[in-house]
Amino acid sequence: MLAEPKLKTFQELITNASREELIWMNGFLAGLVLGESHGNGVEVAPPGLKVNKISVLFGTETGNSKKLATEFAAKAKKAGVNVKLSGLDQYRLNDLPKEEYLFIVMSTQGDGEPPATAKKFYDHIFQNKLSLNKLKFGVLALGDTSYPLFCKAGEDVDHQLLKLGASRIVPLQKCDTDYTEEANAWFFQVLNVLADGNGNVPVPAASKKHKHKKNYSGIVISNTNLNDTGSGKQTHHIELAIEDGADYEPGDSIGIVPHNKKDIVTNILALAGADGESQIDYKGERISLKQILGNRLNIVHLPERVVKKYSTIVKQEIPDTRIDLLDLLRIYPVKDESQFEKVLEILEPIVPRLYSVSSSPEAHSGEVHITVALDKFNVNAEEKFGLCSEYLSKIEEETELEFYVHKNLQFKLPAPERDVIMIGPGTGIAPFRSFIAQRDATGASGRNWLFFGDQHFTSDFLYQTEIQNWVQTGVLSNVSLAFSRDQQWKVYVQHKMLEHSKEFWSWLSGGAYLYVCGAKEPMSKDVENTLLLIISRQGGKSEADALAYLEQLKDEGRYLKDVY
Ligand SMILES: Cc1cc2nc3c(=O)[nH]c(=O)nc-3n(C[C@H](O)[C@H](O)[C@H](O)COP(=O)(O)OP(=O)(O)OC[C@H]3O[C@@H](n4cnc5c(N)ncnc54)[C@H](O)[C@@H]3O)c2cc1C
Ligand SMILES: Cc1cc2nc3c(=O)[nH]c(=O)nc-3n(C[C@H](O)[C@H](O)[C@H](O)COP(=O)(O)O)c2cc1C
Repeated sequence: MLAEPKLKTFQELITNASREELIWMNGFLAGLVLGESHGNGVEVAPPGLKVNKISVLFGTETGNSKKLATEFAAKAKKAGVNVKLSGLDQYRLNDLPKEEYLFIVMSTQGDGEPPATAKKFYDHIFQNKLSLNKLKFGVLALGDTSYPLFCKAGEDVDHQLLKLGASRIVPLQKCDTDYTEEANAWFFQVLNVLADGNGNVPVPAASKKHKHKKNYSGIVISNTNLNDTGSGKQTHHIELAIEDGADYEPGDSIGIVPHNKKDIVTNILALAGADGESQIDYKGERISLKQILGNRLNIVHLPERVVKKYSTIVKQEIPDTRIDLLDLLRIYPVKDESQFEKVLEILEPIVPRLYSVSSSPEAHSGEVHITVALDKFNVNAEEKFGLCSEYLSKIEEETELEFYVHKNLQFKLPAPERDVIMIGPGTGIAPFRSFIAQRDATGASGRNWLFFGDQHFTSDFLYQTEIQNWVQTGVLSNVSLAFSRDQQWKVYVQHKMLEHSKEFWSWLSGGAYLYVCGAKEPMSKDVENTLLLIISRQGGKSEADALAYLEQLKDEGRYLKDVY
């Protein structure tokens, strides 16, 4: 393949090379080939390029992007590059036009959206007419192929930077949850592009441990409604016996893909005139149509993008709205079976739902527990339920349930001697049951303070007996309860924080770690505003200084949120 004299030069090069040099050359060539094969207009850096300063920014929800950005920054520093590492939320947007080399590691959340910490940056580049002609950049996008809009937010940022005049010097790399290998290859590629051509780029060590999104199987041991008679809510405590290897830590959650309701599947098949037993090829498997509609494809609350495609197939005008497949088939019927087959092709997979683990590996060995609130809402005055929470609320003992462990690298317990304040109303209690049980089982010496709230003391005090036991045994030093509807005025956890301002501040200023879990809106916002008030009043700080103090808490990893 290689003609003389290139072959001779090549042989000379490899004959005299050390093993290390051979590995380096191998990686370098792989990087070059990868760059070309993406066809993304990649500029491969000319040898001799000297880059001494880069910025590495990350946008994360559960810490994976931060971890990778930090690893990349360390590698770049080792290669002699000056690195500014920062979260996208901390980044000064005015610096963007001044940047020369910028690398972004970010995940996708929601339905193809940027993580909350990247939102400000994302909006900034989309809403402003920026000129970024000086900027050279690369994006490493984290995502999960179980979601229909895989790595969409990272992809958006990559495209938008290009649109604003910046030069993409490495192709966009999208990574699934088993990101280690792809991320390492991308780091290596970036370092090669930045290299000064003298070969002083570190050779990536073969990855020792790959993180795969592995599905585990659990058997439902129990499913108990924690709310008592008279409650307007249903919160299910579900215990699973799990197989070996399904390791988790307090603060992690598990992902579950719910099944669709059987009667809806039957009605869909009837309306489409299709045979549920007919076998279909789906993602390399041959399975029945009934099974695909039952537990693979999303058939409820279809996103507008799917409804649009449906409208094209049936050649009928359909308003831009979210709607169930059953209603679509009723109102805008398919003509025949072949049209229905086309409809099957446009349906997206059922996305997993996450549930915070409420058990502790130390206290509940061989089990994983979750705390699931039945999601109720009204559509045209008809009461409806969320797909997964309803599926789980009805799940019977002995049922086999598949799940995966979603690691949260940030929402983790501190050293045993540190004090911990936990604010978790409603299902926000889940990770804190895990935290407290773990601290109890491991004899952690730090103090624990729990803030819990719900509607009524008598019917909605989740895990009441356990919490009271922990108070009696001294595991919980403080418990502050807020039952919003037991008096004429509403009482929430933030009111309890304020009531105990002095002690709260004494814990916080004494180095306590503060955790918040549960509803993002309005709970976590109200809690944060109250926190700022306490810092300002008790700490004698101006509004600006209180904000700076809060940022410092975040930087130190002492203010952590897991809100949804
Ligand atoms: C990190 C993390 C941890 C979490 N931990 C917990 C936990 O510990 N406990 C817990 O209970 N939850 C937890 N959640 C939330 C959980 O993942 C689910 O989002 C929740 O259970 C709702 O899912 P669902 O399938 O029941 O509802 P979905 O079917 O997904 O519906 C969600 C919403 O979509 C709308 N909707 C759905 N269908 C229709 C329709 N046909 N018409 C109109 N509107 C519709 C409604 O507004 C509904 O409320 C967590 C989430 C995250 C991200
Ligand atoms: C609620 C939720 C929604 C998600 N939505 C998407 C999505 O639309 N597209 C995607 O590719 N990944 C999606 N993901 C997967 C995350 O991007 C993936 O787990 C990533 O590794 C998280 O990285 P982080 O810890 O840096 O946030 C979603 C994850 C969660 C928890």
